[in-house]
Amino acid sequence: MEIVQSARSISVANHHVRCISCSEVSGALAADFRCTHCGDLLEVEFPSWSTGLAPEPSALKALWRERRTLNQTLDCSGVWRFRELLPSLDDWSSAITLREGNTPVYELPRCARSAGVERLIAKHQGMNPTGSFKDTGMTVAISFARQNKFQWVACASTGNTSASMAAYAARGGMRSLVVIPDGKIAWGKLSQSLDYGALTCQLRTDFDGCVKVLNEIIQRYPIYLLNSVNPYRLEGQKTAAIELLEQLDWQVPNHVIVPGGNLGNNSALGKAFLEMKRLGLIDAVPKISVIQAEGANPLYRTIHEKQGRELVPVEADTLATAIRIGNPASWKKSLRVLEATHGCVEQVSEAEIAVAKAEIGADGVGCEPASAVTLAGLKKLVKSGFVRPTESVVLILTGHVLKDPEYTIKFHRGDLSVPRMADEDFNALTKQQRKAPIVLDAGADAVLRALEAEDKLNG
Ligand code: F0G
Repeated sequence: MEIVQSARSISVANHHVRCISCSEVSGALAADFRCTHCGDLLEVEFPSWSTGLAPEPSALKALWRERRTLNQTLDCSGVWRFRELLPSLDDWSSAITLREGNTPVYELPRCARSAGVERLIAKHQGMNPTGSFKDTGMTVAISFARQNKFQWVACASTGNTSASMAAYAARGGMRSLVVIPDGKIAWGKLSQSLDYGALTCQLRTDFDGCVKVLNEIIQRYPIYLLNSVNPYRLEGQKTAAIELLEQLDWQVPNHVIVPGGNLGNNSALGKAFLEMKRLGLIDAVPKISVIQAEGANPLYRTIHEKQGRELVPVEADTLATAIRIGNPASWKKSLRVLEATHGCVEQVSEAEIAVAKAEIGADGVGCEPASAVTLAGLKKLVKSGFVRPTESVVLILTGHVLKDPEYTIKFHRGDLSVPRMADEDFNALTKQQRKAPIVLDAGADAVLRALEAEDKLNG
């Protein structure tokens, strides 16, 4: 197998790359990572698993556990530690890694009460090195870029992919091109891509417009595409599911709830759970549900208006800028996962997202707005009866609270204007949650008065 533009071969020691629609095994990977026959997306598969050479489940679990105690670079990565379920590099030592993965799971007791479930757990992927889940996929895909001797890598992004790519490119001594929508990127994310030295182009369009422009660039320039159409990205993102189960002592939760943007992440997690079941690591899979913002709800509409037959693209608008995507690339993969795991798709309003984000913060965890759709969605799924109060639920928090400090500060100051709701109504709704900073004279008396007032307020 080879990358068309580079004419250098990729190792396929343990994997194939197959089209999700026409099932053609790709002999050559096109620069846009689409099937050269039908144009649909590709996915990695492991032929040896069907020929009796599948790894043995209890041996795998023991090996992965043992690696947690080792200090070898690859074993310190919460992605490469699970390399038996990943496409193999020619030379493992060439992996570009920042010790990604290894993210915590947290109990969310207050959020559980608010959602109406007995127990709620968050897997915080925002605790990755660049503050989002993107690092888990990036380490794998960029290592393949380097193996194929690319000097340049590129992505269109709503901010997190670009932050991650820029960091990993810098670590690997590669150049990176970031294509982002002007004015629609949270500051934390933009600052990261600058700090890591990417060529950062802010285009006067939205994310979907950036994807179009980048698709032309990759046809005209030898540059390796690192958007989630790249199937190696999703392979790395699978490991969050494996690590989660390890942390839960291989007890499979009833539900896993994921935010939906370009729809790569839920597809990756679904692939992981289904592969683990196939390999005998688990005997059931959780229901994987996807939550979208009402203003960026193409998957929701695709299912409710077209019964999943064709994508309903939308003009996306949400303050959760990470998921401000109207034409998601991985919608078919996502539908397959919803079907195979019996999950569902829900949409949530801007006000619901803001309230949920503050609740996750109040549990001492915090996340960026796009991650908070999970809690907002869970509340609706409990109300509709899809999630029962006694069932175990895991929210996938995808980004760190510091990614978008402007949103948080505006919220607490009462300056956040949410689409489709009057400011007055929103501020009344969130009054109990907001904690605006107080400016005082520099004296103990003033601060003590504030303390006493706060105590009185809380009884
Ligand atoms: N949450 C966060 C924090 C994200 O950054 C993204 C996507 C998602 C959820 C949605 O994941 O696209 O796999 O469905 N961010 C991309 C980016 C698009 O460019 O950073 P998805």
